[in-house]
Amino acid sequence: MTELELCNEAVKALEKSYSPYSNYCVGAALLCKNGRLFTGCNIENSAYSPTVCAERTAFFKAISEGEREFAKIAIAAKKSGENIFNDTVSPCGVCRQVMAEFCNGDFEIIIAKNNSEFSKFTLSELLPCSFGIDNIK
Ligand code: THU
Repeated sequence: MTELELCNEAVKALEKSYSPYSNYCVGAALLCKNGRLFTGCNIENSAYSPTVCAERTAFFKAISEGEREFAKIAIAAKKSGENIFNDTVSPCGVCRQVMAEFCNGDFEIIIAKNNSEFSKFTLSELLPCSFGIDNIK
């Protein structure tokens, strides 16, 4: 699967977003090293703090299906009612920490800008000096 195809999966996933409070729809498409794909959207809640981001939805779906090895994730976002993407989405700190639990620093995070462009980061670029299991061994 190409990176653009992965972005398109994230775009499809954002259509499922339940975000009546922020009206900010996010979709994620997580590719496992074995080729399996898991998508996720953000799911909000009237009590706010139970809200879960698209990235964690995708990760938790995959982990609960037995997956542990991840290659890359694509993320796309837009305000509800708009047709164009915002190019400002960036994984929140909690999602970065969840990624760090299961992925090495070379895990790729692909952020869709529009239908044909995306930017690419590694997890170590987005979460340097991360806290992890090695700190508490
Ligand atoms: N959100 C995500 O799903 N992923 C991100 O990378 C950034 C933020 C969601 C959480 C909330 O539902 C909405 O976007 C506004 O913060």
